[in-house]
Amino acid sequence: MLRVGVMVSGGGTNLQAILDRLADGSITNAEIAAVISNNPGAYALERARKHGIPAVCVSPKEYAKREEFNEALLAKVDEYAPDLIVLAGFLVKIPQQMIDKYEHRIINIHPSLIPSFCGVGYYGLKVHEAALTRGVKITGATVHYVDGGMDTGPILLQKAVEVKDGDTPESLQRRVMEEAEWVILPEAIDRIANS
Ligand code: GAR
Repeated sequence: MLRVGVMVSGGGTNLQAILDRLADGSITNAEIAAVISNNPGAYALERARKHGIPAVCVSPKEYAKREEFNEALLAKVDEYAPDLIVLAGFLVKIPQQMIDKYEHRIINIHPSLIPSFCGVGYYGLKVHEAALTRGVKITGATVHYVDGGMDTGPILLQKAVEVKDGDTPESLQRRVMEEAEWVILPEAIDRIANS
């Protein structure tokens, strides 16, 4: 049974998709060991608690130095001994120590077709704003392994999504989530759990 640690910052719809696919048996040989957030107000924590999953917060605001936060975050992750760490809308840069320790065991969902609209400054709605500004007709989502760079690790899965006339960043974000993110993130976990 693959022990999965899910890291979140916000609403947690990707976490919800993972929970739903575990519940309906689409993901097998995996369980969520813990959900960890940097944001105490993240609704994702509520979603986890409703499922009886340990949900904890390590907030950078509680630490004087970034290095202290990084150490506390890694210590918290280690407590749950995950086999796989899933960044499901985790909007904090992962400490290098964690990347080294969990090499090839951290995956991230990004709301574009990497290498478009990724890297520093591209997260959440900003990604969709940039896609609309550039006028692309196809966008999508990517699941990739996390390495030392920003959205630079090996790509596991991608799914394309059509941009429609009249899209707003919000409407495009919603379509990318529904048609791509909530599909390929659970699929990636199932693949790793059964590989
Ligand atoms: C998702 O769209 C995810 O792809 C994005 O944040 C959102 C979180 O939504 N992640 C990034 O932009 C990472 N660079 P959620 O909390 O509802 O899952």
